[in-house]
Amino acid sequence: MMKANLAYAGTQEALDAVNADDASVSHHSEFFFDLQQGLARQHKSISPKYFYDAPGSALFDQICTLPEYYPTRTELSILQRHALEIAHQLGPHAEILEFGAGSMQKVRVLLDVMDRPARYVPIDISGEHTQEAALTMANAYPHLQVEPLIADYTQDLVLPPDMPPDGRRVGFFPGSTLGNFEPLDALRFMRMCARTLQGGALILGADLVKNPDLLHAAYNDAQGVTADFNRNVLVRANRELGADFQLAQFAHSAFYNAPLQRIEMHLMSTCQQVVHIGGKPFAFAQGETLHTENSYKFTPDGLHQLAQRAGFTPGQVWTDPENKFCLLWLNAPTYRSHT
Ligand code: AVI
Repeated sequence: MMKANLAYAGTQEALDAVNADDASVSHHSEFFFDLQQGLARQHKSISPKYFYDAPGSALFDQICTLPEYYPTRTELSILQRHALEIAHQLGPHAEILEFGAGSMQKVRVLLDVMDRPARYVPIDISGEHTQEAALTMANAYPHLQVEPLIADYTQDLVLPPDMPPDGRRVGFFPGSTLGNFEPLDALRFMRMCARTLQGGALILGADLVKNPDLLHAAYNDAQGVTADFNRNVLVRANRELGADFQLAQFAHSAFYNAPLQRIEMHLMSTCQQVVHIGGKPFAFAQGETLHTENSYKFTPDGLHQLAQRAGFTPGQVWTDPENKFCLLWLNAPTYRSHT
């Protein structure tokens, strides 16, 4: 299920396109509206958030285990290597808020060595999965208060009450998901974090600028899992919206855009063709692309500048021996964030 708090904001034009005969497809969804809008643009695009239905999330989990996709295991190795130091920073009775908690695996490395962690608040939009994973956490850590929050973590959050009085509130945002935000959205998100965490801190994981060959390989794996992940947005549009994308006619394209310091993922039309969504035709020229994702890469300095603009004060930087990935400790402002 996509965000419940974002009601369908469709136009009459979009509503007119509803095919009343086919009850199995949704022409009222945010996905329907966003895809129609995205395909009508001069440079066709769709938000990467639509990758993550159940099959897409499973494909992403598979990506994380691929030999070419270094971020997951590198971040985990940094966490393991510096867990005690990070736990020391967290202090006793700390509360961890995890943004986009998913399967809640990485946070265990911290919880295992923390001094009497008081509360864990995993925040995720996916209700069923989050409740299930939270239950597993509660069983694994019987002294920990686990209070899942089913919410869009990019929006202002209403946190559970009764903050532990003597511990710090620390946010945890691993995985370099910040890199999937456009720069202004990243700043907006960091400002929201600063407001939520005031007086506490944020532990932020981010992928670093590096040799483009390594980046290229990570998004063009030999088994084609990333290609399937990318095409899944078309599979999903066909299933959920009754679109008629011919999957074999869209090639996975991922490349490093060095001036913008980002991997771009696209689906490239291999021929001239017309695709229909809700009865509306969208023409693709041969070679034209649907831009599906940006994955920004960072430098520690660039991250610190971003964090400072959001009101944080930079603390420690932990990285791996090859400087592929980093974890940052960022102190949240005490009273108000910078605006
Ligand atoms: C979730 N996110 C940080 C991944 C990334 O690397 O930008 C998504 C991904 N896209 C292709 N492979 C992985």
